Parts: sequence; structure tokens; C-alpha cells
Amino acid sequence: MEPASRRFAQVSDSSVHAPARGIAHRIANEVSPLGQHTLDRIGNTPLLRLPRVVAKHPGVELLGKAEWFNPGGSVKDRAAANIIAAARRSGQLQPGKILLDSTSGNTGIAYAMIGAAQGIPVTLCMPENVSVERKRILQAYGANIIYTDPADGSDGAIRMARELAAKHPELYFYADQYSNDANWRAHYHGTANEIWQQTEGRITHFVSMLGTSGTFVGNTRRLKELNPHIRCISLQPDAPFHGIEGAKHMPSAIVPKIYDASLADANLEISTEASYAMVKRLAREEGLLVGISAAAAVVGCLQIAQQLKKNERAVLVTILCDSGDKYLSERFWQEE
Ligand SMILES: Cc1ncc(COP(=O)(O)O)c(C=O)c1O
Repeated sequence: MEPASRRFAQVSDSSVHAPARGIAHRIANEVSPLGQHTLDRIGNTPLLRLPRVVAKHPGVELLGKAEWFNPGGSVKDRAAANIIAAARRSGQLQPGKILLDSTSGNTGIAYAMIGAAQGIPVTLCMPENVSVERKRILQAYGANIIYTDPADGSDGAIRMARELAAKHPELYFYADQYSNDANWRAHYHGTANEIWQQTEGRITHFVSMLGTSGTFVGNTRRLKELNPHIRCISLQPDAPFHGIEGAKHMPSAIVPKIYDASLADANLEISTEASYAMVKRLAREEGLLVGISAAAAVVGCLQIAQQLKKNERAVLVTILCDSGDKYLSERFWQEE
């Protein structure tokens, strides 16, 4: 880590102070209307600049969608909200039915939050080893949790949800985020258009971690329509057993039905160790406390920046899926 004196000196540069100067102006002009519902705040997240981590690549702008600004704290609010809205419209999710799905945490939090706000009971299957913070948030929203064997990973939770749905079809609406087109469509109709507008069409690369793949598939389909030259790069963990919560190692996992590998111009593998190191680096160099998959996405962006020609200009956009506060009990924080 850099000495404190150097870090302190860097804080005086103009890129840091320029946004601060605008705060009074913004507050005067961007006051939210009275009476919004918390669910109205899903989407339209800020696209943040990460100047310090790409300082060695002067032609590269690195931008990240700050998805923890969603009310449930992650990108998965978008998919969950669209899955629930589509199921209510189609009549699959009628009053009295329980919403059932498997989740590694964030989709569950989103279902639990929306379910509480709309009076929909929620049952979630998830591996027992998800972080304690996630379990407590789900309990706080009143969701029913069925824990599965951590050794079976997210696939064990998928199998459990499938079994329950098959056994009790009268009881459950099985949302099945891995097969549900409303998942990727949330990004096709939402996230991708926000990115296009926020970059004023300047985006050259879209980079995203794969979990259910909804984020990558939906954004890529729409961005390629808007400009077929945008390079879309998917990222996944480099091993079946990994610490990048929310992400899937496709070669060894149950492949989500909504995943279309042919959409990616390239696919990069990211190590858990590099992601942990980047969590700390982003906190200490950018003042951004992000989750592990968000840091993994930034590792991927830096690999892409390194592959560019010298001084080649690029606008890299990635998705920072959630913030770091749900991962503060992870051991890597103790390993300096
Ligand atoms: C923290 C985190 N990162 C990444 C992802 C992957 O997003 P997607 O399921 O859209 O591929 C998820 C999904 O749950 C997640 O929770």
C-alpha cells in the first residue's frame, strides 16, 4: 500500500474536487419528488468514473454502474422487479402463491424486499455458506430461507428449488431467474439504454461478470443493436470453487437457459485472489467500497486496457453489482 502522505497528497488533485464543487448546485436542482415509493428507485443508477485505477492507460475511461444505489443494494433489483412484474401480468403469480427461487443472495434480497412491499410471500433456496450479512438482511425482510449444502454450491440450491416447485405446483410460483427471460430483458430495456445515454453513445467496450448471465445477455443484446461495434466481453471465475459470490464458472456449472455464449466477443477468466486485492485497491485508491464481483469486473477491465494499442482511446463500461458492506466479514480483510 502507498504511504499515507502520498495518498493524502493525491486527494488535492482537481479530478477529486470538481464533483465536490458541484454538490450545492446539484442539491438545488435534483431534489426528488415527494411520495416516491422505494421500488420507484430501482434503476437509473449513477455511472461512476474510476480514474485512478486506469491512470496508466491515458486513453482509457473506466466507468462503472454503481448498482448499490438500487434500494435492495444490488443489480439484482432490476431482474427481480421485472420477473415479478411479468409474472403478475401473466397471472402466474396470483394472490396466495409463494414466490420461490434459488439465489446466492442478491436476487433473494431483491425478491424479499419487493415481496414485503407488495404482500407476496417469498421462499428462497440458498447455499448455507453465503455471507452472514445476507442471511440477516433476508431475515429482516421476513423471507423464508431453505439452506442447501455449501459443497453443492449454487447448483444445489437450484436443484432444491426445482424439486419443491415440481412437488407443490399449486403452492409456488417458481421464478427461476436462470431460465426467465424477464431477467435479461430488465437490462435490455433498462440498464443498456441508461449506459447509452450516460455515455452519450461513446461506449466502446461493455464488460460484465456472468452469474445467471442476465446482466451480460440483456445489455449486450441492446448495446449491439445501438452500435454493433461495441465489444462485449464476459467474465467468469477461473475455477469451479471460487470466492466471487454471485458469479458462475460456466464449464462446471448448470448452464443457465438464458445464457448465450455466442454473444460475447471475448470471455476472460478472473481469479478470486486478484478480485480480493482489487476490492481493497478500489476502497483505498478510488474511495469505492464494492463487492467482490464488482472488483472482479474491474480486474477484467484492466486486462482489456492492457491489451489495447498504446494510447488507443476506449470507453470501458462495467457493472459494479453491489457494495462491499455485505462482505466485511470475509477473511481477506484480515489478510493484509
Ligand atoms: C454480486 C453479484 N455479482 C454478479 C452477479 C451476476 O449477475 P447476473 O445474474 O445478471 O449474471 C450476481 C447475481 O446474482 C451477483 O449477486
